[in-house]
Amino acid sequence: MGPNYPGNSLSPKAKRIAPEGPFHIQMTILGISAGFHDAAATVLDYDGNILFAGHSERYSKQKNDADISPGLISDVLHYGQPEQVAYYERPWRKQLRQWYSGQGIEWDKLTVRGILQQQLPGVDFDYAAVTSFNHHLSHAAGGFQTSPFDRATVVVIDAVGKWDTITIWGAEYDSVGRAQYTKLWSQGYPHSIGLFYSAVTSRVGLRPLDEEYILMGMAAYGHNNISNRLRYDLVDNEYEIRFKENLHTGLSQKYLSDYSDFDIAAGAQDLAEDLILNVMVRARNFKFSKNLVYAGGVALNCSANRRLGSYFGNIWIMPNPGDAGSSLGAAALAYGGRINWTDAYLGHDIAGDYPVNQLLDHLLQHGIVGVASGRAEFGPRALGNRSLLADPRGPEIKDRVNEIKRRQKFRPFAPVILEEYVDQYFDMPRGFGHSRYMQAVAGCKYPELFPAIVHHDGTSRVQTVPADDSGIRKLLEKWLVLTGCPLLLNTSLNIRGESMVNDRADADRFEREYGVRVCS
Ligand SMILES: [Fe+2]
Repeated sequence: MGPNYPGNSLSPKAKRIAPEGPFHIQMTILGISAGFHDAAATVLDYDGNILFAGHSERYSKQKNDADISPGLISDVLHYGQPEQVAYYERPWRKQLRQWYSGQGIEWDKLTVRGILQQQLPGVDFDYAAVTSFNHHLSHAAGGFQTSPFDRATVVVIDAVGKWDTITIWGAEYDSVGRAQYTKLWSQGYPHSIGLFYSAVTSRVGLRPLDEEYILMGMAAYGHNNISNRLRYDLVDNEYEIRFKENLHTGLSQKYLSDYSDFDIAAGAQDLAEDLILNVMVRARNFKFSKNLVYAGGVALNCSANRRLGSYFGNIWIMPNPGDAGSSLGAAALAYGGRINWTDAYLGHDIAGDYPVNQLLDHLLQHGIVGVASGRAEFGPRALGNRSLLADPRGPEIKDRVNEIKRRQKFRPFAPVILEEYVDQYFDMPRGFGHSRYMQAVAGCKYPELFPAIVHHDGTSRVQTVPADDSGIRKLLEKWLVLTGCPLLLNTSLNIRGESMVNDRADADRFEREYGVRVCS
């Protein structure tokens, strides 16, 4: 698989917890997605271990930061100079598409080396080989090469990378373990489920390419009886996923002005789900594999994902399936083989033991506590290392957490539960025996007991925690012993308007601003 070097005998986990010093010679691949939105970096070694993966916005505090921030470069260079730098798309093709769609050409973003030298001061490009990959292939590889599957049907749905907006791939490993991808079908710009959803996001006054998850949450409060109106007005062919107009330019603010934003959201979600499922039917009909790997920003729509199990037996959605996750996808393509996936705790490290007993004391006394400990999560969900946790029982807790988060009251919070208890409390959707990264919503069996973690439509965005050595696992086990309850409320630890807390200084600011203890 690759050369041996000192340190290979350590487990991937041990290597991740103890990054090597500047004098240690270690050959690495640096994967980069940057220059458009959600810049991110992944460091991979030549045994397929993920040494680090982090988001730029967590360091710069600018949501969806398009550029690699100095703090992220500093964490990346803890692992030494990379031998290869892999970029997540082919820039000249993207510039061509931008020119075609009237966005103009950014001349300084025409070559990979030019972009990377601009984005990565401090990286030695005399030493590092530079390579780039197709945008949708990077999505596909980030999914397939982290999946447990030897063979899978891969579906990628996003807004727009360069030309492709939807792709279906057959993926498998060859006799020497190299991932091979065969493109089975694609749809291209401007026909895009992602652009449709972003256009509606903008139409209801939310930020496109950022707040689509809020549109999804709003959908539960509306009536979906305008989905057919949307279909009639906007869709030319729902099986080929062809739209009547270029939704990249958005929808008129006067469009559907007789309807509430919640009804528009419900109609858009309903139509988006139908279109996604049409793609899944097409993908299944290739009969390549019953294993589904699903990637691209649209794969974050956990409400739609609950229906995927009708078409595929086993489903893998990497916790960061959008463009930021393609930093891992590009590195995986440069590496070539299967990635040793363990968990999503891959980012900036706040060293020290997970503060289980402190957290329990605060939960029992106050009902709410923050935690900022260990490696930051790679992906948009807080999974217990940068989380605001609360006792989910009873009717008051939702308002108390909302007061801290200061966000729209209609949005529910997520439950985190010991995996072996999930079927007692939730009806997990087919294809999802577990949901370790909140990939799908599930019906809650006791909504009256846990109103804070149940959405208006009776579903919850569940995080299941397997029997591993994570801090959140230890906390939930003790919480169960003390209270008889195997779940907690879990929401991201972030100051309003900012990205998630990254380091201890951010956690201190959170404490000062909201008066809630954050344990490390
Ligand atoms: Fe993408």
